[in-house]
Amino acid sequence: MAMVCLSDFEAYAKKYLPKIAWDFFAAGADDCSTRDENVLAYKRIRFRPRMLRDVSTMDIRTKVLESEISFPVGIAPTGFHQLAWPDGEKSTARAAKAMNTCYIASTYSTCTLEEISAAAPGGLQWFQLYIHRNRAVSQQLVQRAEALGFQALVLTADLPYTGKRRDDIRNGFCLPPHMKLKNLEGAFEVCKISPSFHSLHWHVPHETKTTGMDPSVTWNDIYWLRSLTHLPIIIKGILTKEDAELAVRHGVQGIVVSNHGGRQLDGGPATVDALVEVVEAVQGRVEVYLDGGIRKGSDVLKALALGAKCVFIGRPALWGLAYKGEEGLQDVLRILQDEFRLAMALAGCASVSEIGRHLVQFSKL
Ligand code: FNR
Repeated sequence: MAMVCLSDFEAYAKKYLPKIAWDFFAAGADDCSTRDENVLAYKRIRFRPRMLRDVSTMDIRTKVLESEISFPVGIAPTGFHQLAWPDGEKSTARAAKAMNTCYIASTYSTCTLEEISAAAPGGLQWFQLYIHRNRAVSQQLVQRAEALGFQALVLTADLPYTGKRRDDIRNGFCLPPHMKLKNLEGAFEVCKISPSFHSLHWHVPHETKTTGMDPSVTWNDIYWLRSLTHLPIIIKGILTKEDAELAVRHGVQGIVVSNHGGRQLDGGPATVDALVEVVEAVQGRVEVYLDGGIRKGSDVLKALALGAKCVFIGRPALWGLAYKGEEGLQDVLRILQDEFRLAMALAGCASVSEIGRHLVQFSKL
């Protein structure tokens, strides 16, 4: 099967992954309207391409927090990579390093932070944190990540509780017995909760005692995190100008405009729509990134034109892993890279610094 675009990897993953794993990766909250909107929103944005601008030499490199990456697409944090490929997050780390881009490893990884770090020495890795009810657990994770050389901390803000993902409930989703949330293993004893993902993760607010994650987290906890680590702190899950302003005022170094791939609050905006007000509020004071719905190189170009410094892919990375592990994920990244370069050239931009707001308009579609 010729893999030409990211949808080819999606079709492959849907066909060959066990249904329970495919459904978990694909899930959005409720009737998935925000998940689908993330993708559709790009179709309402149209280019204003410029011609005759010498695109014979292209420079698609950029920087995130001072680190150079080969093009402005990184890998968003997603859990349970062993559901897609036996080597799990180790393969993800290797692919990201081979493509010289950034990998954000999830708290919910099925490999330890030590294994992820050792799989790709010198690779650009950030660590995504969910704050645990037992703060000692989170403190230990942050300090382990820093000691291992992870270069930033990404605090996910949009998951005080888990969104209602219907297929996971219908399937009774839980991890197969041989897979573990390896970075949280000790934490289960501490909290006296069942290590099965289902009871850890899917619950409604009045059942909060069953979860390890802390729904009482507030902006003040950024100061607590700051006291634990010298790493830059990036906040993930921001969708409004009000929260963007609060994030800057609380001293974060970056913001990821994200709705968790539409898996949390259904009915919120597409991330590329929310990006506009966040970028306007931030006024360049910190870097703004985006994830959600990126499926083509031209989507990357649109997000950058609207002010994102870099974008991250969630599900497409999992499809790549499901196809051929490290190699499959490299294929996904290479296709996006080639498409992005071509879209830039056809829009008249020879380097990332030439991409700007002038390049796009919103259509009424
Ligand atoms: C996620 N996401 C996520 N985010 C996070 O901060 N920590 C996590 O552990 C996870 N886990 C996770 C699992 C799966 C299966 C998915 C699909 C998503 C959200 C993720 O980082 C990102 O916001 C979205 O995936 C981006 O949307 P796309 O690229 O999947 O459309």
